[in-house]
Amino acid sequence: MTPSSAPEPDSPARWAGAFDQAAIDFSGLSPLLWDPIGRAAVAALGPRPGERVLDGCCGDGASAVPAARAVGRSGAVDAVDLSPAMVELTRRRADGLPQLTGHAADAATWPGEGYDAVICVLGAFSFPDMDAGTEHLVRRAHPGGTVAITFWRAGAMVAPGMALSRAVARERGEPGPSGPPPSRLQELGEPTAFGKWLADRGLVDVDVRTLPSTVPPTEEALWLLVLGSGFRGMLTGFADDAVPRIRRDYLDQLVGGPPVDATTLVGIGRRPG
Ligand SMILES: C[S@@+](CC[C@H](N)C(=O)[O-])C[C@H]1O[C@@H](n2cnc3c(N)ncnc32)[C@H](O)[C@@H]1O
Repeated sequence: MTPSSAPEPDSPARWAGAFDQAAIDFSGLSPLLWDPIGRAAVAALGPRPGERVLDGCCGDGASAVPAARAVGRSGAVDAVDLSPAMVELTRRRADGLPQLTGHAADAATWPGEGYDAVICVLGAFSFPDMDAGTEHLVRRAHPGGTVAITFWRAGAMVAPGMALSRAVARERGEPGPSGPPPSRLQELGEPTAFGKWLADRGLVDVDVRTLPSTVPPTEEALWLLVLGSGFRGMLTGFADDAVPRIRRDYLDQLVGGPPVDATTLVGIGRRPG
């Protein structure tokens, strides 16, 4: 996850490490956040029995598992994630679905091709070069094949990102941010801009759908949102006794407030051919 107020990704290895640590908590957050988003993205993509699907940045299988159910045993799903721990969780959830194969690899350079459908849910913005990485994913589909890419809608995940940034800054004795910095992800979180960006990546007939989602403002859900996502990386480097203070400060800003906006945009298009 790279909400606008989280640190910018700098290398694939950083992401793999962050998500290895987060894998167990990531799974805890899945029923609340990742699974409904993954299922909705697969429903929008509509893979059919017998098709070959690539799921880039598969996490713990939120979209790869429903895609595998949709294509059935006559189809195949390659589920690719940089984090071996995530791939292992996907494999476990795919028990009884031999059509799904998990791979610990970089989706931005994955060599497989000729897929009927390619899906990447909340992962492409983690690529060091998200334009080139997304173009690479688009080319994994055969000409005429379908591609679905999911991003956060503008404003989604900003409240927890800001609250955590403030809590982390206060722990360091630094002034907290007054607002989220303008970012390319916020621009691309607008449906029209996202659709144009996908067309620029090589897709035609692009349709962008908004999938509303919220996380309840309870202590448990809000802290899981930190531990089970890329936000967790913001806790790196703090001593063990600092983390409970950051947690308390973060929760005091959010508990009992409005539900956290976790709305996504899913852009679906076709590789021309
Ligand atoms: C926010 S999670 C989303 C996971 C899943 N698609 C979902 O929606 O539940 C982002 C995932 O992207 C993975 N990731 C980041 N960069 C990657 C890359 N270059 N190649 C493959 N996976 C990557 C992370 O390890 C993490 O599992």
